[in-house]
Amino acid sequence: MIKLKPVLFSAVQPSGDLTIGNYIGAMRHWSKMQNDYECFYCIADLHALTTQNKNMFLQKTILDTLALYLACGIDPNKNIIFVQSHVYQHSQLNWILSCFSRFNELSRMTQFKYKKTMFKNDYKGINVGLFNYPILMASDILLYQTDLVPVGKDQKQHLELTRDIANRFNALYGNVFTLPEALISTHGCKIMSLLDPTKKMSKSDSNKNNIIFLLESISSVALKIQNSVTDSDLPPKIYYDTRKKRGISNLLEILSAVTYKDIDILSKELNGIMYSEFKKIVSENVCNFLSILQKSYFNYRNDENYLKKVAQDGAIKASLQSKKVLKRVHSVLGMNWI
Ligand code: TRP
Repeated sequence: MIKLKPVLFSAVQPSGDLTIGNYIGAMRHWSKMQNDYECFYCIADLHALTTQNKNMFLQKTILDTLALYLACGIDPNKNIIFVQSHVYQHSQLNWILSCFSRFNELSRMTQFKYKKTMFKNDYKGINVGLFNYPILMASDILLYQTDLVPVGKDQKQHLELTRDIANRFNALYGNVFTLPEALISTHGCKIMSLLDPTKKMSKSDSNKNNIIFLLESISSVALKIQNSVTDSDLPPKIYYDTRKKRGISNLLEILSAVTYKDIDILSKELNGIMYSEFKKIVSENVCNFLSILQKSYFNYRNDENYLKKVAQDGAIKASLQSKKVLKRVHSVLGMNWI
């Protein structure tokens, strides 16, 4: 396959409740990358099946996510935006790669171990998809001869597994798959909880005061920031140190992301002010940023025909690429001969 630019692949699971952590860790970087890379942005609805809600019906959340992608500045004419289940090659490669993955490798995955504890290690409640999840991720990535995958720290292990699977396959069948690299940004890959900055901001947190949702009402966001945890240093000091100043560093990360200003510059500018004043500045900037984002989101979300057209075009383009790689896989396995 001839590449004009390096290929970048990223995905999020469909959900209407993406957080500012998702934005800062992932989506924020995407619109900047569209010029330097050939970008594939996928809505991973098949992955979402692993954590099912009652009567799950994915269409609404997929369209929500698609509208949010567009509102974040991802241009469908410059990038390939598509829904995972619309491109059958993902499921097809998934099976083949599962036969090149090892049970013990998957058992070692931190995310699986963590999810297992949520079922109190009772295997009866754990669906096999949850276990196989990283193989589907590997299929997503390897289908596009991906060079780079922007991932948060929590997904790094899955990317390493992807490389192991690709290496194993390549060792047997020649250079079929490109080995992907992780692209981990130094700042902002892990936004922490507002009330407990020792743990990651996670949309599944039962205490919603820990989380800033991208589509949440502006007044509620302001209140949450106002109540966020800082520290009791006297006199108050504002600088970046994720060990000694967890709460402040987290707010600085968020402020830096929404203002596009460097953390070092911000901490110099803000050092010496009261924490209440600092929070007010963070709150104003976050609220301003979110209200612009939300306005754009609702414009897209109210035009379902347009969203469907974007998804359809994306599926056609993604299929075209992934078919080539799958064909090569079938071919080296001796499955492509009629
Ligand atoms: N598992 C990722 C998440 O929940 C989403 C995802 C699916 C993904 N396939 C991927 C991310 C491929 C990167 C590459 O965050």
